[in-house]
Amino acid sequence: MANRRFLITGALPYSNGRLHVGHIAGAYLPADIYVRYLRAAGDEVRFICGSDDNGVAALKTAREEGTTVEELTARFNRSQRESFAGLGIVFDVYGGTHQPGFTEIHERLSQDLFRRIYQKDYFVKKTTKQLYDVEAKQFLPDRFVQGTCIHCKSPNAYGDQCEDCGRSLDALDLIDPKSTMTGTKPELRETVHWYLRLDRLQKRLAEWLRTKQRNAPLSPAWRPATVNFSLGQIENEGLPERCMTRDLDWGVPVPLDDPDAEGKVLYVWFDAPIGYVSFTAKDCEDRGEGWQAYERWWKDPDCRVVHFIGEDNTIFHAITWPAMLLASHDSDSTQGQAGEYQLPATVCVNAFLNIKFPGKEEEKISKSRGTAIWIEEYLTRFAPDPLRYYLTAIAPERQRTAFDLEDFIQRNNSELLAKLGNLVNRTLTFAKKYFDGNVPDPGDRQEVDLAQLAARQAAGDKVADHIEHFRFRAGLEAAMELASKGNEYFDVTAPYRTRKTDLAECGRAVNVCIQTVRSLATIIGPFLPFTARSILQQLAIDDDALAWSRLAEEITPGHALGEPTYLFRKIEPEELDSEQ
Ligand code: 2FM
Ligand code: ZN
Repeated sequence: MANRRFLITGALPYSNGRLHVGHIAGAYLPADIYVRYLRAAGDEVRFICGSDDNGVAALKTAREEGTTVEELTARFNRSQRESFAGLGIVFDVYGGTHQPGFTEIHERLSQDLFRRIYQKDYFVKKTTKQLYDVEAKQFLPDRFVQGTCIHCKSPNAYGDQCEDCGRSLDALDLIDPKSTMTGTKPELRETVHWYLRLDRLQKRLAEWLRTKQRNAPLSPAWRPATVNFSLGQIENEGLPERCMTRDLDWGVPVPLDDPDAEGKVLYVWFDAPIGYVSFTAKDCEDRGEGWQAYERWWKDPDCRVVHFIGEDNTIFHAITWPAMLLASHDSDSTQGQAGEYQLPATVCVNAFLNIKFPGKEEEKISKSRGTAIWIEEYLTRFAPDPLRYYLTAIAPERQRTAFDLEDFIQRNNSELLAKLGNLVNRTLTFAKKYFDGNVPDPGDRQEVDLAQLAARQAAGDKVADHIEHFRFRAGLEAAMELASKGNEYFDVTAPYRTRKTDLAECGRAVNVCIQTVRSLATIIGPFLPFTARSILQQLAIDDDALAWSRLAEEITPGHALGEPTYLFRKIEPEELDSEQ
């Protein structure tokens, strides 16, 4: 099992905003847990992320804020980096599709792939009609057109979607359209774009997606909702040709020797996933391997590519992106040859996270309505691991779940603190007080001791199996079961009682408790990295102990332990009031 190779990605956040708990639960935390576990298991991993800078979203926000798109995206790229670091989500590289140092390689790889697909004849050039702002002298992206919704007659409709009824729209169908840039009435003009022939790829895509319904060696079945949804897109309606270029002056220029390509850029959803590749290339270069070394991760069938995303990104990762990769292949098989882009082994998709404030109904997370918990703000008040714990315990793996603030406090206090924290703390303070801070002699172990010791490896195996199959929530539960078992063992063997009657028996129990705590450090490591570090420090053993293969190793008798400290603090319900 050792030394497998994985390239793991977290969806690239748009660099026009900060990160909130929904983002973290949706993609980055499960990805980080997976990466930490794989590394502990001895696998070779690169963990890639960065900001999605191109496209209209950032342009629009920059315009609203009265700043340049370069300044805006750089600022949010920095803010995102800090939020991730604060939560212990550690990427090998955090790039940006339009950040200094990354733009050049990103353009190069994006344009290379575009050209390759063009040569393979998977693009079709079409002339269409689009709204044009005469005053601003530019075609209007859908988001830049506002008008009246044809369905509900609300005036708050944009060219892609109605803000009130939520239905998706075509900009050309808006009643009374206005440009949000100049307020003028746009006119209809002809424009030329390149469309990806998804219709010609859908048969192979469906075939490939069907292989994801079953477990395969080293490539577990995908979550059913993901495959069903994606296959449904193909089987029910068939895939349309999809426009992959835009009339915009911010993005990756269309690399064609054709006068019609002038002033056009690649559609942001074409270049964004290539960001995963270009950031890998930049990282390889920074490591002194040469940028071309990205091929070892992306074009080698021995490496498994795994994408972590939120549900709204499913189409782009399970259909469009694999279609782009297939279109670049020489052969017609669904598996690329060595030297060709490999399709993702897994696309791990989470549903959205709702939010529930005390005394209010559960609702959607919304920036404009102020119903979000921002990571930057959270981190000024609380430690990262309680959030990692809670977001994993309620992970929206199958369906939407809610971040309930009262439940967050409750679980911090009654699970993290009362189970895990309690076991570690009472074990280590006991050893300090009655065994001079040394690991006591194991003595003549009885059945109850052996059972508890065996529970450690069993828990480790169970957690590993859950994580390998992308069941992070169940993995955390299995890890916490070991803490509960440890507490039960402590209660049953009652060292606080035997210390007065039989010190050897007392030492025997404390020894087993210490071994349990030691194993817990490894097992909870992927979920709660700060806590794991602290436990290792309190045990005075080094970080190598996080290796999964060593989780059931015992600390030798006589080993001098470190200083016990509290792992978690109690959170009082009153703390919420000011938080809101
Ligand atoms: O939904 C989003 O936030 C997108 N920026 C995700 C892009 S993921 C990838 F393809 F880059
Ligand atoms: Zn509407």
